Amino acid sequence: MERITVIGAGNVGATCANVIAHKNLCKEVVLVDIKVGTAEGKALDIWQAAPINHFNTRVVGSTNDYLKTKGSGVIVITSGLPRKPGMSRDDLIKTNAAIVKDVTEKAVKYSPDAIIIIVSNPLDVMTYAAYLASNKPSRKVFGMAGTLDTARYRAFLAEALDVSPSDVHALLMGGHGDTMVPLPRYTSIAGIPVTELLGNEELDKIVERTKKGGGELVNLMGTSAWYAPGAAAAQMVEAIVDDQKKIFPVCTLLQGEYGLKDVYLGVPVKLGRAGIEEIIEVDLNKDEKKLLHESADSVKSTMKVLDDMKLFE
Ligand code: NAI
Ligand code: 2OP
Repeated sequence: MERITVIGAGNVGATCANVIAHKNLCKEVVLVDIKVGTAEGKALDIWQAAPINHFNTRVVGSTNDYLKTKGSGVIVITSGLPRKPGMSRDDLIKTNAAIVKDVTEKAVKYSPDAIIIIVSNPLDVMTYAAYLASNKPSRKVFGMAGTLDTARYRAFLAEALDVSPSDVHALLMGGHGDTMVPLPRYTSIAGIPVTELLGNEELDKIVERTKKGGGELVNLMGTSAWYAPGAAAAQMVEAIVDDQKKIFPVCTLLQGEYGLKDVYLGVPVKLGRAGIEEIIEVDLNKDEKKLLHESADSVKSTMKVLDDMKLFE
């Protein structure tokens, strides 16, 4: 691929650009930020690791100049503010939706064929905002959360069982928040169902820790995580660039799948060069279905907050 753009050169965006460059996924990564010099500085710093770590991908920065992003095949959006003291969840939706709308419109103008991956929070509703702003099919505009949440779940399981994290295969669905739905019934260790290796009590504890995985890191660091989030977004970029047809939980627009309509929610999809190539419907039992529908209700209420703001009329 010729060019990949990462918008927002903060913690997550810079990490994502760094991983993309190290994986040699394209000829050039463009990092964009609104803060003068930030993207240029971080891009230069990443590029100076090329002779040490042997990659060829050029890394360039841009302060708000989208001409430099022209012809990108994939655009990752990480720009946005974290919630500040005194700011309500709705205030955050409004502020970040305005940012996501603005950067999406500017980026799509120069890269009309790009696939767009949203990372900014609140994730599910920001993905919806980018979809509205982009005027593109939903299979080309989707959000990163499930690859991160699943990675956290897999890391906790690998630790508990003292096995290689890459041997842990897992599925997790729903919104990016406390209502996410990790699925132990669809979790295995090198093909062995996890339910044969761990008792219910321990599994429940890991599921609960996964649901609060983002919060655990905020409590430790006073800000949200970036190493795993940046790597998780880059993993999705890699699946697209290399046309891997990998199956990941991705935040996507559901139009009848799982009995849900007009809601952006995390479900397993096949990712390849065309973006989301298939939404995979797995069989859920009554309890799992109930949890997924509760998660969808919670996301729908935030999507309604955005609709009521009438930012897209
Ligand atoms: P950060 O504050 O380090 O970086 C955000 C960057 O966006 C800043 O450099 C800022 O200048 C830039 N920005 C703001 N407005 C902009 C605009 N109009 N154009 C271009 N750049 C602009 O934040 P961090 O830690 O990188 O997180 C970024 C976002 O990702 C946050 O919304 C965070 O909550 C979210 N996040 C989502 C995760 C997920 O699983 N989906 C995981 C981790 C973070
Ligand atoms: C995370 O899960 C806060 O969404 C961010 O780390």
